[in-house]
Amino acid sequence: MKMLHLATILLTLSGVLTQSSDWGVKYPDKPIYAVRGFSVSIPCSYSYPTSNPNIQVTQKLWCSMNSNKGRCLDPTYVYNSASNTKSDFVYVGDDKSDCTLLIHNLQFSYSGEYRFRFITDQPSDRYTGDPGVTLQVADLKVSLIRLSGNGTLKQGDSLNLTCDVKCTHSSSQFVWSKNNEQLNTSGPVLHFPALTVRDSGSYTCTWKTNETSGFKMISLQVEGLTGENPDHWPIWIIVVLTAGLIFIIVAIPAVIYNRR
Ligand SMILES: *[C@@H]1O[C@H](CO)[C@@H](O)[C@H](O)[C@H]1NC(C)=O
Ligand SMILES: *[C@@H]1O[C@H](CO)[C@@H](O)[C@H](O)[C@H]1NC(C)=O
Ligand SMILES: *[C@@H]1O[C@H](CO)[C@@H](O)[C@H](O)[C@H]1NC(C)=O
Ligand SMILES: *[C@@H]1O[C@H](CO)[C@@H](O)[C@H](O)[C@H]1NC(C)=O
Repeated sequence: MKMLHLATILLTLSGVLTQSSDWGVKYPDKPIYAVRGFSVSIPCSYSYPTSNPNIQVTQKLWCSMNSNKGRCLDPTYVYNSASNTKSDFVYVGDDKSDCTLLIHNLQFSYSGEYRFRFITDQPSDRYTGDPGVTLQVADLKVSLIRLSGNGTLKQGDSLNLTCDVKCTHSSSQFVWSKNNEQLNTSGPVLHFPALTVRDSGSYTCTWKTNETSGFKMISLQVEGLTGENPDHWPIWIIVVLTAGLIFIIVAIPAVIYNRR
């Protein structure tokens, strides 16, 4: 019984060891969605046999599988640790196990499959993580949906602001803010059952996932009904003040003149 136990433990241990000392590259297995114009971080980790302590990683490469025949070779590189070119593709990993790639200024054309490849100083010891990771660049849209009223927005009208990114990301999050102050709603829809003048302002929808975020703004201008605009003085105050002013300008000099 004891022997069996020991055997199991040894087996488990050796299983762990083989796994961690294999050649490998790990990325998210689901597509990564991101918003055009923003940045995304592509998580990636890699490993190689640690049995030889002298092994050194000499070159790291990321290639785009968009326009080629399925090999991670020279013209497909978007990042090459051996060259110093500046681009939207920035390696933020290391020489040991982290191969995370940051992509800035996302364009629709950046959508596609990417693979990480690394080369060591041991003759013919190189590895490409195949299949790669898929990036999907989408637009973030905020639409205004009128539920009542038409023409300019007026008090009492109802509407929805709907934030939409064409993707099927399960763990994304929508955050709304008004004039840069976060609102207490979550979800892609901001519902206004009856607008007031105070709802005027600029609204921002921010869409977030673990790898990226993006935002989009929309402005609302709500017209008050005549005489009920709380941002202005009521008509009667204006009339009284104007009358008072005319009295001061016209009547007082007249009185003073008459007394002379
Ligand atoms: C929109 O306005 C037009 C005239 O300005 C009116 O005829 C129409 O009924 C309005 N529609 C709605 C849904 O209020
Ligand atoms: C935000 O919403 C939560 C519940 O959804 C509520 O308990 C809290 O008071 C709200 N805060 C504000 C500032 O409205
Ligand atoms: C507007 O928003 C409300 C609340 O989120 C929702 O129930 C309704 O279906 C939305 N209507 C439209 C037309 O989007
Ligand atoms: C996102 O990140 C959190 C914390 O870092 C983690 O717990 C969660 O599993 C991640 N979600 C996904 C889908 O990767």
